[in-house]
Amino acid sequence: MPLTRKAYRAAILHSIADPAVVGIEASYEYFEDGLLVTENGQISAIGPACELLASLPADIQVSHYQDALITPGFIDTHIHLPQTGMVGAYGEQLLDWLNTYTFPCESQFSDKAHAEEVAGIFIKELLRNGTTTALVFGSVHPQSVDSFFEAAEKLDLRMIAGKVMMDRNAPDYLTDTAESSYVDSKALIERWHGKGRLHYAVTPRFAPTSTPEQLTLAGQLLSEYPDLYMQTHISENLQEIEWVKELFPERKGYLDVYDHYKLLGERSVFAHGVHLCDDECARLAETGSAIAFCPTSNFFLGSGLFNLPMAEKHNLNVGLGTDIGGGTSFSLLQTLNEAYKVMQLQGARLSPFKSLYLATLGGARALRLEDKIGTLQPGTDADFLVLDYNATPLLGYRLKQAKSIAETLFVLMTLGDDRTVLQTYAAGNLVHQR
Ligand code: GUN
Ligand code: ZN
Repeated sequence: MPLTRKAYRAAILHSIADPAVVGIEASYEYFEDGLLVTENGQISAIGPACELLASLPADIQVSHYQDALITPGFIDTHIHLPQTGMVGAYGEQLLDWLNTYTFPCESQFSDKAHAEEVAGIFIKELLRNGTTTALVFGSVHPQSVDSFFEAAEKLDLRMIAGKVMMDRNAPDYLTDTAESSYVDSKALIERWHGKGRLHYAVTPRFAPTSTPEQLTLAGQLLSEYPDLYMQTHISENLQEIEWVKELFPERKGYLDVYDHYKLLGERSVFAHGVHLCDDECARLAETGSAIAFCPTSNFFLGSGLFNLPMAEKHNLNVGLGTDIGGGTSFSLLQTLNEAYKVMQLQGARLSPFKSLYLATLGGARALRLEDKIGTLQPGTDADFLVLDYNATPLLGYRLKQAKSIAETLFVLMTLGDDRTVLQTYAAGNLVHQR
């Protein structure tokens, strides 16, 4: 058996619990001069370099980094692959933005060659930004998801995706039917769910673009296969919420539509939730559902400010989402920069350790994958990053003034972006080198 054990020496930091639950000090582990050991695609040890090195064979291969921080790979719990080509579309809020920019852009994915080209660009962009796992919306076309999974499989990435189900209130060129969406989703599930590190997500776009028949069949798919994910949007925009009330007058509210069709559960992730009420947060928490907090999108589309303290009060699982292309950056560091401002505008705070938690372990918990990703605990997948303190002249100068790992972390999240990610590893393999 060839020796696949490798070691990485640098400052090492990971979240081990939610600071809102255990307090900041107990929420993380930090090794100023640490060592991370990987073996056969998994982490086998983590600790102070001087201690661990003494227990390892003298000839083990060690990569030693100066002025760098090793963290778990970032987890993006909400992103749209077919919107890669329309980031930064001017002037509209959600519903007009969808009609003017989004639907025409997504229609291009009827062409498999286009889908393959964008899947390649999209995955490179994820890895350049340090995102090792994402929960991904495809377009309505099954080939958008095939292309994505084919590319992800080649790199042995842990990824989750699904084909959009959308059978009304969208242009004819972009709608499926309740029946065809069920058949096409089922074929994708059979092909990809549980293959390597890939998982499938049943993906009704949002309540306004699905008929009751389609939502019923989405619920049926979830009942037919174990461990499937469900992803959709909820309560992002006030006009959208009014529209849902008109379309489903018999339901108590937006969440109740999804609840009625049996779409809530431990692997269900709802994007945005900007305008959720207390009762809806309680119901989401009770069913083990999660929210994807998408600050750059909520600012860009003028949707509103997500109430993280309310979610915390209900012990609701929250991950971070870039929501490309409503969001404006693939970088979860930049997403945290904006998340901080969302809290500031509500008179609240977002500590750097809560931010780290949201981008890593919090996302893993939202996806029920905390035994595999989100930390650097031995036995989990070797998905990790090397962040460069000298990525830009300003970052290097600013970090020289930092007096604690808390300050360093906060500055990385404020000034950092794709340039900060020196290397990305997935299943122990180098998948991005700046
Ligand atoms: N709601 C329904 N579809 C979308 C989408 O593509 N992006 C966002 N941000 N919200 C949505
Ligand atoms: Zn979205």
